[in-house]
This record gives sequence, C-alpha cells and structure tokens, in this order.
Amino acid sequence: MKQNLTIALSKGRILKDTLPLLEAADIIPAEDIFSSRKLIFDTNHDNIKLVVIRATDVPTYVEHGGADMGVAGKDVLLEYGAKGLYEPLDLDIAKCKLMVAGMKGAGEVEGRMTVATKFVNVTKEYFARQGRQVDIIKLYGAMELAPIMGLADRIVDIVDTGNTLRANGLVPMEDICYVSSRLVVGKAALKMKHRQIQPIIEQLAAAVDARK
Ligand code: ATP
Ligand code: PRP
Ligand code: MG
Repeated sequence: MKQNLTIALSKGRILKDTLPLLEAADIIPAEDIFSSRKLIFDTNHDNIKLVVIRATDVPTYVEHGGADMGVAGKDVLLEYGAKGLYEPLDLDIAKCKLMVAGMKGAGEVEGRMTVATKFVNVTKEYFARQGRQVDIIKLYGAMELAPIMGLADRIVDIVDTGNTLRANGLVPMEDICYVSSRLVVGKAALKMKHRQIQPIIEQLAAAVDARK
C-alpha cells in the first residue's frame, strides 16, 4: 500500500526552478501554485501532497515530520543546523555564494568588527573558526543597507550577480561557502517510507543530470 507523502517547497525565488524537477519525477501540482492562496496542494498522485512555505521553515517541517521531504537552500540548512535531516541530492538550482561584504574603500576594522546578517549562526561560526571576534546584528533582509547607514562594518549575505552590492556601493570581500538548493529528507520518513522516497530521489537526480 502506498503511504501518504508530503513534500515541503520553499516559496519565493526557488519555487519556479523546483517545479520542473518535480515534474520530471512525475509529481505535478493539481493547480497553479502561483495564482493560489492555498498552502497545501494536491498532485497527480492521490498520496502525494505539496506544502508551500517560507524557505527558512522547510528544515523545521522536515525535521519534525510535518513534511517527509523538502527543498531548501544550503544557506538555510547551514543556518538551521539540520540535525535530523538527510541531504541526499544537490538540485543544482539557485546557485550563489554566502559572502562577507563591506563598503567600497572601507579599510581594515580596528578592534571589534560589527557584522549585520540574517545568517547569525553561520556568521558566528565563520569568524570563530578564524579566531576573529565580531559583534553580530541580526537583520531579516536588505543587509546591504546596514554599512551605508553606519549600523555595521560588514555584512554576511547571499551574492549571485553582485548587482545588489554594486548598486549600493558595496564590494564582496570574503567567500564563506557555495550555496545551491538541496533535497532534504527527514530521518523518520527515510526509514518508514524508504520504498516510496528512493525512486523519487533517483528521478530527481536524473532530471538534475539532464539539465547539466
Ligand atoms: P524569506 O524571503 O522568506 O526571508 P529568503 O530570502 O531566504 O527567505 P528567497 O529569496 O526566496 O527567500 O531565497 C530562497 C533561497 O534561494 C535562499 O535560501 C538561497 O539559497 C537562494 N537565493 C537567495 N538569493 C539568491 C540570489 N540572489 N540568487 C540565487 N539564489 C538565491
Ligand atoms: C538576495 C540576497 C541579496 C541579493 C543578491 O536578496 O539577499 O540581496 O539577492 O543577488 P545579486 O548578487 O544577484 O544581486 P533577495 O532579492 O532575495 O531579497 P531579500 O532580502 O528579501 O531576501
Ligand atoms: Mg531572499
């Protein structure tokens, strides 16, 4: 018998790249996600549902079994700490970098440096590993504004084209890590629903390879 399976998708910028991969694994939403206010969607399979939530909530749902598997950026997974999650597949979408950036022409910071970011844990770990002492200011978006307004010496944020940095007079300074979106599977789900999940992982992997 087929068990129910719930897949958590990040709304926002990675959703439109995720849907074609799911479709290649023959998982197709029953209605247009983008024009709906629903949070939970039926698919072409009676037993498979999609939930569409904030990127940062995906690991929480999957870890606690509210969803069996999901799609989330590596940045979000690193920040979350992803204890109870398997990460079986790099989906090779939403590729970018986590970087330290600051104002163009900013010199070395004397004494303790202030860093504004929404990635508090990643930032703490990055600077601690180098033995550098920093004060962290938590923001929820538009990190690039913080050095301009004198709130922080540096930011830690996602950089893709570099357009946002450039448009605001900032420059990239240090690479922290490469980021792309990953398939994640809950520990309980992998144990209890392995026979259903394994073929989906394989079909997604084939779809990812086909795009390369
Ligand atoms: P929220 O808006 O809910 O606070 P978010 O900013 O993380 O969360 P999105 O902007 O949709 O949500 O980003 C989702 C994921 O896409 C991020 O976790 C990251 O992995 C990736 N990403 C973010 N910005 C970019 C970008 N400019 N280019 C490529 N990938 C990006
Ligand atoms: C993301 C990220 C950077 C920008 C980087 O912001 O936080 O600001 O994209 O991309 P770029 O290098 O190509 O300019 P987003 O648009 O997701 O806004 P947010 O602050 O709401 O997350
Ligand atoms: Mg964003």
